[in-house]
Amino acid sequence: MRFIEFSHTRRVLCSIALVALPLLCAIRPARAQTTLAATPPMGWNSWNHFAGKVNDADVRAAADALVSSGLRDAGYIYINIDDTWEGKRNAQGEIQTNEKFPDMKALSDYVHSKGLKLGIYSGPGPTTCARYIGSYEHEAQDAKTYASWGIDYLKYDLCGYREIMMQKAGGDHNPQANAMMKAAYEKMHQALLATGRPIVYSLCQYGWDDVWTWGPEVGGNLWRTTGDIDDSYQRMAEIGFSQAGLSKYASPGHWNDPDMLEVGNGGMDGDEYRTHMSLWAILAAPLLAGNDLSKMSTDTLAILKNKDVVAIDQDPLGKQGDRVSATGPYEVWTRTLARGKAIALFNRSETAASVALPFEAAGVAPGTKARDVWHDREVTLGNGYRAEVPRHGVVLLLVQ
Ligand code: GLA
Repeated sequence: MRFIEFSHTRRVLCSIALVALPLLCAIRPARAQTTLAATPPMGWNSWNHFAGKVNDADVRAAADALVSSGLRDAGYIYINIDDTWEGKRNAQGEIQTNEKFPDMKALSDYVHSKGLKLGIYSGPGPTTCARYIGSYEHEAQDAKTYASWGIDYLKYDLCGYREIMMQKAGGDHNPQANAMMKAAYEKMHQALLATGRPIVYSLCQYGWDDVWTWGPEVGGNLWRTTGDIDDSYQRMAEIGFSQAGLSKYASPGHWNDPDMLEVGNGGMDGDEYRTHMSLWAILAAPLLAGNDLSKMSTDTLAILKNKDVVAIDQDPLGKQGDRVSATGPYEVWTRTLARGKAIALFNRSETAASVALPFEAAGVAPGTKARDVWHDREVTLGNGYRAEVPRHGVVLLLVQ
């Protein structure tokens, strides 16, 4: 609105002062930019729970559940279909869906009618990780197809392109292969841009060649920093805690992605899932639930929906947090927020422990008031403050 009013005023001024002030007329007002993925994307992805079995009905059920559970209103708006939706190409070379997804446009309309956005999956190779058809030599055509379906998000997975790198560069981790990989990501970026539709671009190549240093150059809004997560504390912790040092590479529109959530899939206990969720929020990671939303327990929902944790993850400053101290298995991570700070005290050991808050390293003064997020209570961080942290658990503090 403001832009329209300013444009009008400018036009009037220009017509009056056309001769006297030619320069004024040459200056164009800056259009307000909306950054794609201004905060880390939130939503659901089919892979962690449904893997190759996902179908149209599962995706609709996930969309329904996001709405009825209140998760959509908490910020979870992307419904992302991962690998195994792909069918064959038609005579014109256009990608078709397989029998599990009878009508992608109708599915997209359904998802949009719920106030949600739809994501899809492909890769730069002739085939995808699950050996379905990839976008190799059909990038522009596929991007157009996605746009015509109303797709809002693309996860682009390297897997099948490895064989091309092996053939042409004699390996998949050498300078020539790295250049090919970047060019392949850039190619799809250009194809997406050419559609004119804003489509969040998620790079999935497991962190190869330090993708965080070049992801933005090839148009990535987020990039996987690791191999695949699984539903075990060991793997989740291995991935999550390995993110120390990457904070400087994240900013609005550009996020490190330590993979999707496993919360609610059953392989971890409540303390472990709270660690998962807290660590991802400190990391400004995408929050893509990976469970069966239609059969979610109240505990799972409470973890995914915790207002403070979501607010930490989605903080508008977009500054990723980092580790500030580690004493054996006790780690303290902090994240600077637009107004305040989040402090997480993690206990990676096999027994409950009392973990001391390192005031100086954490950048808080004794006497500071904080919110103990998971215990839902206010606390004062008095001199010598220690928190009782369960095995594999966390105490998450929000200072405002
Ligand atoms: C790779 C990705 C996973 C998932 C599968 C699908 O392993 O890293 O996240 O997309 O492919 O085949």
